[in-house]
Amino acid sequence: MSQNVTILEHAVVDHHLTHIRAEGTSSGEFRRRMKALGGLLIGEATRELPSRHTDVTTPLETMQCRDIAGRIAAVPILRAGLVLVEPFLELIPEGEVRHLGMYRDEATAEPVHYYNKLPDDNPPTVGLVLDPMLATGGSAVEAIRALERWGICDIRMLAVIAAPEGIARLQQDCPDVAIFCCACDRELNDQKFILPGLGDAGDRIFGT
Ligand code: PRP
Repeated sequence: MSQNVTILEHAVVDHHLTHIRAEGTSSGEFRRRMKALGGLLIGEATRELPSRHTDVTTPLETMQCRDIAGRIAAVPILRAGLVLVEPFLELIPEGEVRHLGMYRDEATAEPVHYYNKLPDDNPPTVGLVLDPMLATGGSAVEAIRALERWGICDIRMLAVIAAPEGIARLQQDCPDVAIFCCACDRELNDQKFILPGLGDAGDRIFGT
């Protein structure tokens, strides 16, 4: 489990998770807390971004500072990943966003592509795949392959809640991808939903 996996240990993360898991939580509250979790998750996943020295003149003197080197892109997996875009852009206003549309076939739980706005040239330095849920890992692997085709070398997978099965799949199929999540739950059920989980994130975010 530890290979390339960071699970956030943070009192505020635990607090928001508690509320988003509860079945009675409204869509509005669910989105608000999901965005808060997204900010914490993206903050952790970008702790070690490549950076460079730059000289800055304050009102009093010049000093050497650091800023992010290269470009960073977030790729939310539609629909549910959209909720993590705002916290990404709040944290890194210079960031780029490209969208990937996928849903899980209800019978097979395999990802079905329906939208891809990733270019195939001029890749950013770092790519963050954003999705609240990492269940079987099928959608994440497909998304990572799309970022690889774009030419991104430093790919990081961010999920609010993960299943051990999904983490194991990524470790097996994408061993160079660092995984960040707020919680790793117990298991998948027969329908490939995360237990105890929070239900269907997309439905809860958009009230469907
Ligand atoms: C959910 C979730 C992930 C995927 C995870 O999306 O947001 O994208 O399933 O499952 P996996 O790890 O087994 O691939 P869903 O298919 O419900 O689509 P939605 O976001 O449009 O609701």
